[in-house]
Amino acid sequence: MGLFRGLSQIGSTFCVFYVLGLILNQALICHGGTTSNFVREVEKSIDMPLDSDVFSVPPGYNAPQQVHITQGDHEGKAMIVSWVTMEEPGSDKVVYWREKSKDKRSAKGKMSKYKYHNYTSGYIHHCTLRNLKYDTKYYYEVGVGQTPRTFWFKTPPKVGPDVPYTFGLIGDLGQSYDSNSTLTHYEQNPVKGQAVLFVGDLSYADNYPNHDNRRWDSWARFVERSVAYQPWIWTAGNHEIDFAPEIGETKPFKPFKNRYRTPYRASNSTAPFWYSIKRGPAYIIVLSTYSAYGKYTPQYKWLEEELPKVDRSETPWLIVLVHSPWYNSYNYHYMEGESMRVMYEPWFVEHKVDIVFAGHVHAYERSKRISNIGYTIVNGECRPVEDQSAPVYITIGDGGNLEGLATNMTQPQPFYSAFREASFGHAILDIKNRTHAFYSWHRNQDGSAVKADSMWFFNRFWHPVAETSSAVI
Ligand SMILES: *[C@@H]1O[C@H](CO)[C@@H](O)[C@H](O)[C@H]1NC(C)=O
Ligand SMILES: *[C@@H]1O[C@H](CO)[C@@H](O)[C@H](O)[C@H]1NC(C)=O
Ligand SMILES: *[C@@H]1O[C@H](CO)[C@@H](O)[C@H](O)[C@H]1NC(C)=O
Ligand SMILES: *[C@@H]1O[C@H](CO)[C@@H](O)[C@H](O)[C@H]1NC(C)=O
Ligand SMILES: *[C@@H]1O[C@H](CO)[C@@H](O)[C@H](O)[C@H]1NC(C)=O
Ligand SMILES: [Fe+2]
Repeated sequence: MGLFRGLSQIGSTFCVFYVLGLILNQALICHGGTTSNFVREVEKSIDMPLDSDVFSVPPGYNAPQQVHITQGDHEGKAMIVSWVTMEEPGSDKVVYWREKSKDKRSAKGKMSKYKYHNYTSGYIHHCTLRNLKYDTKYYYEVGVGQTPRTFWFKTPPKVGPDVPYTFGLIGDLGQSYDSNSTLTHYEQNPVKGQAVLFVGDLSYADNYPNHDNRRWDSWARFVERSVAYQPWIWTAGNHEIDFAPEIGETKPFKPFKNRYRTPYRASNSTAPFWYSIKRGPAYIIVLSTYSAYGKYTPQYKWLEEELPKVDRSETPWLIVLVHSPWYNSYNYHYMEGESMRVMYEPWFVEHKVDIVFAGHVHAYERSKRISNIGYTIVNGECRPVEDQSAPVYITIGDGGNLEGLATNMTQPQPFYSAFREASFGHAILDIKNRTHAFYSWHRNQDGSAVKADSMWFFNRFWHPVAETSSAVI
């Protein structure tokens, strides 16, 4: 730094040194974090063919398929159970009971169908189970009276500051062979995720001619092995939009909205694409990159009222999910999240959001705690700076879909980027108590226990001191 300062001083007098100073300035200030040099086999991601084992249709007449669950209320005492029947509507009922209890209850759901171009969906059922007990294993049966199938889930602990809870993080999953290895790797992780925070881009059906919606069905059959047993919290990505006026489809989000429910009304949201839930020690806010977010829009008004409601002595961990990242140093979707960042970042700093998870870029990246909220048009202060009130931004869009990896990074690595690597994988956020959470990222090529990147998160409300991190490369 001494050399740099010296040169800068001379540089201010002599033009030639000034230019040299600028160059050195670049080199010295832009010391980024780690760009992993992990060498992977780069092969094209190929979708699994429709007759693959993971897509098999369960046997039996009108057997329920594509079973999935998600949180059904604001506190975690309700679960939305969804499934599809193909031959006929079948029963709307879900029969459910607590482990070791003979007291069987039933809830009635609703059935609907939709058409998309020349595709007609099966009979899509959604049924909300309410007033569940916290921290309890439930069994549930769908296909009542025809071909019943039984699954189970565990409700979260009562919302509170010091209950541990473990989230899995998956994004941009798709249905390629790599997607299958990501899901398998997540399932085999010795640290067991209890719910998945899914940051958008589910099936990638829209990459097929006419957005072949059979790929929505196959995707749901593929992930059933996880999402029938633990809730996945849904974020809408660009591959959920399915806006295709060229084939007469002008209602955005049609397949996604019909197939995947979110408990948006419980958080007073007016659309299923932005909402919040509490789960154990966490308050999760889901935002929509692909719904209006400018001033005066429904999403803006909702978020403005939502953030002050978060009570950190009840839910210390404030986590935001959004599809398009705000801080992304790959040469893909570069700056696509920028306008939303400009709108909402000051609120995230004011309310001390702990972590923002995003997808969209098919790679992995973790930022330092940074903010870029000083700019006022006239003052020229438009650089990210380290900020202990700011969230860490994590891009986890590396689920493994058919579009392949994002390997091209901006150079040099910006200083705010702590770690980046173009590999498929998933992450785990293991919340221990109100102050500590252990976070780890797992690339598919490693054994299931290997942490390719990890850090202890310190809660921004209860323990706002700087963190350090470690990466295995
Ligand atoms: C829909 O149209 C495409 C070609 O336009 C055709 O290949 C496909 O078989 C049709 N699907 C149905 C269900 O009719
Ligand atoms: C997907 O992964 C599962 C679990 O590892 C495996 O049993 C299955 O054969 C795989 N399917 C394909 C098509 O790769
Ligand atoms: C939703 O609005 C109602 C009525 O204003 C209020 O009672 C309730 O607490 C709100 N719920 C949430 C989760 O903000
Ligand atoms: C990486 O992206 C940059 C910016 O878009 C482009 O100029 C460059 O050619 C790309 N490199 C490769 C190897 O594709
Ligand atoms: C919170 O968890 C961390 C990590 O397990 C532990 O070191 C710390 O003592 C815990 N704090 C309390 C108050 O239990
Ligand atoms: Fe995306």
